[in-house]
Amino acid sequence: MMRFVAIFAVFAVALAAFRPPSVPLLVSDPYFSIWSSGNSLYDVWPTHWSGGINALAGIAYIDGKAYRFMGPLTPPVSMTQTSLVVHPTRTDYTFTQSGVELTVSFFTPSLLTDLDLLSLPFGSITFTARALDGKSHDVSLYFDHSAELCVHQSSEPVVWRRSHQGGMSFAQIGTQAQKILGAKGDFQRINWGYITLGIPDDASTSMVFAEADLSRAQFVAKGTIPATDDTRMPRPASDHWIVSAVRMALGQVAAQPVSRVLYLGYDDAYSIDFFGVRQQPYWSSRGSRTIQDAILTATATWPDTMAAGAAFDKELEASLFASGGQAYQEVGSLVYRQVTGSCKLTTDEKTGEVRYWMKEISSDGDISTVDVIFPASPFFALFNPELLWLQMLPVMEYALNETAPGYLYTLPWAPHHLGTWPVADIKPAEQENMPVEAETANMLLMLATVGARMNRSTEWLPKRVWPVLCSWGDYLVTVLPDPGNQLCTDDFEGPSPHNVNLAAKGILGLSAFAQLMAMAGQQCGASRDGAYYQARAADFTQYWLSHAHSGDHYQLQYNLPDSWSLKYNLLFQRLLDMTTFPESVFAEELAHYRTKHMNPYGVPLDNRATFTKLDWECWVGAMSRDQDFFNQLITRIRQFANDTPTRVPLTDWAQTPTPKYVGFQARPVMGGVYAKLLDEAMHPRSA
Ligand SMILES: *[C@@H]1O[C@H](CO)[C@@H](O)[C@H](O)[C@H]1NC(C)=O
Ligand SMILES: *[C@@H]1O[C@H](CO)[C@@H](O)[C@H](O)[C@H]1NC(C)=O
Repeated sequence: MMRFVAIFAVFAVALAAFRPPSVPLLVSDPYFSIWSSGNSLYDVWPTHWSGGINALAGIAYIDGKAYRFMGPLTPPVSMTQTSLVVHPTRTDYTFTQSGVELTVSFFTPSLLTDLDLLSLPFGSITFTARALDGKSHDVSLYFDHSAELCVHQSSEPVVWRRSHQGGMSFAQIGTQAQKILGAKGDFQRINWGYITLGIPDDASTSMVFAEADLSRAQFVAKGTIPATDDTRMPRPASDHWIVSAVRMALGQVAAQPVSRVLYLGYDDAYSIDFFGVRQQPYWSSRGSRTIQDAILTATATWPDTMAAGAAFDKELEASLFASGGQAYQEVGSLVYRQVTGSCKLTTDEKTGEVRYWMKEISSDGDISTVDVIFPASPFFALFNPELLWLQMLPVMEYALNETAPGYLYTLPWAPHHLGTWPVADIKPAEQENMPVEAETANMLLMLATVGARMNRSTEWLPKRVWPVLCSWGDYLVTVLPDPGNQLCTDDFEGPSPHNVNLAAKGILGLSAFAQLMAMAGQQCGASRDGAYYQARAADFTQYWLSHAHSGDHYQLQYNLPDSWSLKYNLLFQRLLDMTTFPESVFAEELAHYRTKHMNPYGVPLDNRATFTKLDWECWVGAMSRDQDFFNQLITRIRQFANDTPTRVPLTDWAQTPTPKYVGFQARPVMGGVYAKLLDEAMHPRSA
């Protein structure tokens, strides 16, 4: 523990309040994903991760005067935002005005070890007011959300309805068209299913469907909302902006805090089309038929769920802090829901098979992209390795010809992805091939990691996958040690033939395969056992060492003597306790990065450009097992997030001389931030 004392002191002095580029509010899945990119909650409208407005409005009526706290609306006077803290599962804003303090907490129960909680399609917003000045104040609160949450374009006609059940009132808005799973694409927003607002019965709380301007103006003037629902439907979401509005009368508020909670979620009916078979959200296969049922059931124990979320956050924040100081705590907390909110847990409506899906947000919108699951994999391996397997499962099923007739998989390497979210329907001939990369070695490395995290059991791995795994191992043997002119994951830089980092991944993929075979007691064919594949890996490493070395470091490509690159793929040697590459490789590479290439905002990816990938930097920081080097990297990433003028959910592709955004936003690859915690979890040190 002593080791960290100095770090604490440095961080405590150096870091002022963290300004995230965009703040997660309610982020459950790639569609229900609400962020605020303002410094204050009342500066800008909340947006979907893609940047489209997802309007939420908040106004406080204190002693007869109205002040806004969420959304850039009238009244012109806002409360004053005094703090913003992003925890892993919760975001807390605090405001003050006229002697009253208001805390607004956005919470989603994204706990990866509890699949029932993880899959809940809603979050809560808790409003807590108290007087700070020893007096008492009359306080009412106003909240509304627009129909922008359930349309792709605001010209789409929507309808709305109310229901009442078991002590709660529900307001739902959805498109008239209701084309379930009827659209796909990267920046596509959901336009089927229903945005659902739930409020507990309470004489002091009322709800109405109304025109946004009318409803807000009435609250500003009188502290009340319209008495009857607007029923002019269907009409476009943008036609006099229909909102679900809530008024919460808190009464006289003194020093004793007064709270109200409301629930906002999304019932998407079906989440994924897997080669023609619909996948329902996991929660709807677990007892709750409707989202109203799900909310009612969960709210019965909501205080416990919030307490579990808070306990999880506290423990995780402490681990991040102990591992990398305040910067690691802030970055790790910021990306948590970015990662969980890129995924969806489902149940197959025919077979009941449970699968976990990841969207390649903002860089194609692909579904189950293996070279996107891979950079995020430390996150899932850390919190729940079973979920990492459930992400690979549909990819394996596709490779095993188990999806649908007409999709027979004939490629000798693993698939790259399965289609465009939310529809898995790609033909093998349409694959974006990255044979060594994304596919084959990544799959073997992740499978071995799941095994290592499952106490080296392979009961979770169906026996029927072995022939295909063997063909992938054999494929790597045929293409290494020089992968030739293959596409690698950093394809935004163009092709990089004879890529050394890619070769390292392929080699470690073989070592990982050898480990997996040992765990499972399997061999390939009559004689190819784990030792056979490890011996090939050792041969290829000799080639790698002699052909990739250049002075004091290793090259970007075997054929470019003056080149260099981050060898982030070596992380897996650390995680899986391999000895395939000598320690000197780590030592030389690390010294090269830190002495020659440490820019104000990080170390570039390679010699071709000054930009980097934040996820790979976190991998390199973890594999260095050098606290000081890791701290240098994570403080730069934190500073980039704090300083970048591009206000989108954290990018992973950034410049290093300046805090300039290059491309991508909100991608799940930021799960790579957790590589260091994963390494520590897999190698606990004695006290
Ligand atoms: C899937 O079908 C293709 C085409 O018939 C075949 O080449 C391939 O070996 C099959 N894969 C498996 C795992 O059976
Ligand atoms: C692994 O074993 C440990 C100790 O027996 C146990 O606490 C843990 O739950 C096991 N983990 C898994 C994933 O089975």
